[in-house]
Amino acid sequence: MEIIMHQVGKGKDDKTVRMQDKEMAEHYTSYRILLIGSGGREHAMAASIARSPRCAKLFVAPGNAGTAECGENVALATDDFNAVRQFVLENHINMVVVGPEAPLVAGLADNFAKDPLLKQIAFIGPSQRGAMLEGSKDAAKAFMMRHNVPTAAYRTFTRENIGEAFTFLESLQPPYVLKADGLAAGKGVLILPDLETARQSLREMLEDAKFGAASAKVVIEEFLCGIELSVFVLTDGEHYLILPSAKDYKRIGEGDTGLNTGGMGSISPVPFANEDFMSKVEERIVRPTVEGIHAEGIDYKGFIFVGLMNRGGDPYVIEYNVRMGDPETESVFPRIQSDMVELFEQAWKGTLDKAVLKVNPQTAACVMMVAGGYPEKYEKGKEISGLDKVEGSLVFHAGTKRDERGCLRSNGGRVLCVTSFADNLQEALDKSYASVRKINWEDCYYRRDIGQDLLGY
Ligand code: AMP
Ligand code: GLY
Repeated sequence: MEIIMHQVGKGKDDKTVRMQDKEMAEHYTSYRILLIGSGGREHAMAASIARSPRCAKLFVAPGNAGTAECGENVALATDDFNAVRQFVLENHINMVVVGPEAPLVAGLADNFAKDPLLKQIAFIGPSQRGAMLEGSKDAAKAFMMRHNVPTAAYRTFTRENIGEAFTFLESLQPPYVLKADGLAAGKGVLILPDLETARQSLREMLEDAKFGAASAKVVIEEFLCGIELSVFVLTDGEHYLILPSAKDYKRIGEGDTGLNTGGMGSISPVPFANEDFMSKVEERIVRPTVEGIHAEGIDYKGFIFVGLMNRGGDPYVIEYNVRMGDPETESVFPRIQSDMVELFEQAWKGTLDKAVLKVNPQTAACVMMVAGGYPEKYEKGKEISGLDKVEGSLVFHAGTKRDERGCLRSNGGRVLCVTSFADNLQEALDKSYASVRKINWEDCYYRRDIGQDLLGY
């Protein structure tokens, strides 16, 4: 494996030089990095990684037209672990960063850990056991119970005890929250207004496999009233750094109406996540979560995304994800001024207790531009214009590609994501919307009310 090291100084006695050699070499290891993913999250991550003097080369698999500006896109089937292995070895990769959850839930980190040639490669993403915090809602809730992490009361059912599930539903107040246990492409959570629709949906999930194998088990939980936010953590499995908080906007329509989407915008920081609230988040949630991971011997070097409900000033966990959020990353990562590759190295080496997180105190506002029709049927391949007119904002590509003439075209439901910074939220929003209005393609849509609910704080 090729590790590029800078020269160290000469002229001291042997022992000092050896010490310096070691420290400097450690300090200056440069990385040939493979980033896995293809969305706006990965473009934002790629931009931060590419900025680092520690990054010698960045590959993104498969990437998009935006990541191609930060590194080299590679058409690698990332669900084919042998193909990933071969690529990593042939290209002397010494750091892998995983954007989405699927490869982690499928055990990519474990594949590296047990391979004599891959195990020394810095790998950012938890083991399969760790990834079950996202891969199984039941496992995540059981983990929270074991470690006293505040969350909604719940029970888990299968088709064998559906009768008990109906009785449990009757003991709850509406609305009713049903969650498919497994990964269901972000669609596995149903919030039902009354008992009859809840019973009907429960039958569809357990008996008619509404979400396939993912709904063979269903978590039914108490509905938590409050306002949601996301807190991100980078952990080495023992120590942690709490990254900036963010709020995302999941519904397609203004005023949080209509269908759920991957996310239509995000704001960081969250104004109500003040010092007092964040210290509760740390003491009641982040610390016990990381201590739990450590105590259970789970190999976890990567991100924890804690979806939280602020219920009257007290944080409750709605869900864990084992990755960064999208589009939260597009407002969180640009605010992080520390060298991201250095933080990844510290996470890998287990020295995050020595890490220093530097964050831009300004507010970042990110607005997602999507294809008309999304999240239902939409068209791809529309020519995108106006990017060259954007000033003072960052434009992250979510679903784009260049055609054979080099022309930028839409290539997904979520297409572009515009992030701007300012000293206050209103100004950051004004800047982002001014940039959004300069960009166009046929049928493009965006929500015009991102961040409005936070202006009063
Ligand atoms: P999830 O897929 O777990 O993020 O859930 C999707 C959305 O459902 C969350 O972002 C919340 O808005 C909502 N949700 C999930 N669980 C609850 C709950 N216990 N109480 C209220 N809302 C919930
Ligand atoms: N924005 C929510 C998520 O990434 O799951």
